[in-house]
Amino acid sequence: MKFTSLVKLNTYYNDTCECELKNTAKQAVFGNGNPKARVVFIGEAPGKKEDETGVPFVGAAGKFLTEMLQSIKMDRTDVYITNTVKYRPPENRDPTPTEKQQCRAWLVAELNYIKPDVIVFLGRHALNSFFPELSISDAHGKIIDTKKYKNTENTSVITELKTTHFLPLYHPAAALYNGGMRATLLKDFKQIPKILKKLSGK
Ligand code: URA
Repeated sequence: MKFTSLVKLNTYYNDTCECELKNTAKQAVFGNGNPKARVVFIGEAPGKKEDETGVPFVGAAGKFLTEMLQSIKMDRTDVYITNTVKYRPPENRDPTPTEKQQCRAWLVAELNYIKPDVIVFLGRHALNSFFPELSISDAHGKIIDTKKYKNTENTSVITELKTTHFLPLYHPAAALYNGGMRATLLKDFKQIPKILKKLSGK
């Protein structure tokens, strides 16, 4: 389906999405940021603050994400930030495979509307939505080599998405209070400007 704006896309999927989390969440949390972004970040699911405000990554993890963006001289208006599921799971539990599947068409539509140069997976839920066999602890900080998937069963990611570059990172909430992981995430984050530069041929 073709949409003339992200607002129309989000409204359509919010109306038609059959995700069971809709019954308990206060509202949908749409992706937020620049529709022409070169980088899209995908998190896990809205938390309490996000459910209240309708904006992704506005709690403690979001503050840390904003700081990391500043560390690479970017801000939230340069990028687009969304989640694998658009409704808060009760008690902040993990989204189930069914719930992720129910929100998946929405996420794919958003990604293909924006067509960013790089998709950054924040944590294992986002990574495994597209690369179920990869583990975040092995894959973080390195661009995924999609050539490997050309002749395997997992070709969906390269046929389904227009973007071809994917960077897995630890989730900011997991790294927030873990010194080692925090340092790794800050270091991995620096890959983003390098990848963008390389893709612009500079
Ligand atoms: N806030 C979000 O919007 N997503 C997360 O994954 C965590 C916090």
